[in-house]
Amino acid sequence: MLDYKNPRHILNSDTIKEGQVTWRSPSNIALIKYWGKHGTQLPNNASISFTLSNAYTETTIKYKAKETGLLENNISFFLDGKEKADFQEKLITNFKNLDTIFPFLKQLNLSIHSHNSFPHSAGIASSASSMSALALCLCSMESYFFNSLGNLDEFKKKASYVARLMSGSAARSIYGKIALWGKTPADPNGNNEYAIPYKKYIHEVFKSFHDDILIVKKGKKSVSSRVGHQLMEQNIYAPSRYKEAEKRMSQLIQILKQGDLTGFGKIVEGEALTLHALMMTSTPPYILMEANTLTIIQKIQNFRKVQKLPLYFTLDAGPNLHLLYPDEHRIPIKAFIKNELLAYCEDQFWIEDVVGTGPTQL
Ligand code: PMV
Repeated sequence: MLDYKNPRHILNSDTIKEGQVTWRSPSNIALIKYWGKHGTQLPNNASISFTLSNAYTETTIKYKAKETGLLENNISFFLDGKEKADFQEKLITNFKNLDTIFPFLKQLNLSIHSHNSFPHSAGIASSASSMSALALCLCSMESYFFNSLGNLDEFKKKASYVARLMSGSAARSIYGKIALWGKTPADPNGNNEYAIPYKKYIHEVFKSFHDDILIVKKGKKSVSSRVGHQLMEQNIYAPSRYKEAEKRMSQLIQILKQGDLTGFGKIVEGEALTLHALMMTSTPPYILMEANTLTIIQKIQNFRKVQKLPLYFTLDAGPNLHLLYPDEHRIPIKAFIKNELLAYCEDQFWIEDVVGTGPTQL
């Protein structure tokens, strides 16, 4: 197990200068899903995702010296300039869990400012982008104060580890293109504690993939991912799910190498429906898809059959669809989305995204 505890990372209170750090970090969409965890945010199966580009969070941490040593009253959080008390509480809990890794945080006053590129109420999970941006800011602060984490690989590994502690899927957003998180026979470098950039050969067709996000319903979902993961502990299908995820991971890795689009579609759509089947077979069971989610899925299946174009869908833990397809087919596919699918989205809202290069420090 990695041990990032560092009691020596304490600042000399007399010399703390005011400063700030900013990172922009993208969201990601899992192709093999992480659903179910154990221990301290450790996944029950490995997952792999495309890192996105246009759906991102920008976070700035402004810091200065603080008089007393308590964490409670030294964090303020602003989303698009507005103070958010509920987020602030979550952050305080997260930061308490990080106390042994970043003991210097309690010596500082932190004013955290976040902005999402997508509307907050859009129904898009922002935890991957927001928690990865935050983890990168914290690692940059450590690096600045203590001259540690000089090596970029070590920096990213720690940022991914820290992001994971706040939101599992955020661990993967640290890396561009494709990221893998979790132990898997398919890749000896896979690790449960942090994600890695997926470096094996990837066929050209997957490098310019689109992910258009169709917002069927904005707003908060009825069952959170935190509760969803918990319900997996009692789900009688959980053991077979984890075996299936392992098998699909090996298959997908071959598919990514070969550029097999049909195989890709079978796996990612299977994963999306399996994720929602697990919700429906939890106790109590619940459904996060909407009627329009199913209508769009059927329209995509029909479009594929008639037009013979490689357009596939996947889902996060919510009703919104991610439409995945190669760049060379973007013209007819975007026309199909505009003419036939947007009518089933709330306020016709969608986000056009592509596979991206990962976070940047601003
Ligand atoms: O990162 P969490 O704890 O919000 O879990 C998210 C899990 C899924 O988005 C449904 C799948 C995944 O691997 O991203």
